[in-house]
Amino acid sequence: MKQLIALTINGRVFELPVDPRDLLVDVIRKKAGLTGTKKGCGQGDCGACTVLADGSPVLSCLTLAVACQGKKITTIEGLVENSGRLHPVQQAFVDHGAVQCGFCTPGMILTAKALLDKNPRPGEKEIKRGISGNICRCTGYKKIVEAIFAAGEAIAKEGVK
Ligand code: FES
Ligand code: FES
Repeated sequence: MKQLIALTINGRVFELPVDPRDLLVDVIRKKAGLTGTKKGCGQGDCGACTVLADGSPVLSCLTLAVACQGKKITTIEGLVENSGRLHPVQQAFVDHGAVQCGFCTPGMILTAKALLDKNPRPGEKEIKRGISGNICRCTGYKKIVEAIFAAGEAIAKEGVK
């Protein structure tokens, strides 16, 4: 049986009818219409579905939507400023050629944002450890690591959150 829940996604409250078994990834994509969040393996292995809940990365393919009431959910769409300016992590991925097919990119960027929120100047090892749950089948990770490092520099300089 469906129940109406209120989810705060990217600062906007969505009132949505959901089944108690509905997964957050499906509700975000199909009911809130935010298709930037990707569904890859659907079983917690690839990280493509990563979103932030109260600033921490969660795998939305393993998370029930009903469990997210009262939390602030951030998807990749929520990182773009109202002016259209990209978040420094997004901009760095563009500038450093860290995107190929793009399927892993939203989850990778949100994971990186959470990492940089804690420490804007992580070393290479810390970056690699931080994104170890996010699989990219295209890039070989080198440019992704470079982009995250550069984003950290930009954030430390600009003080962006
Ligand atoms: S789709 Fe969620 S971890 Fe792969
Ligand atoms: S850019 Fe294609 S999976 Fe990462």
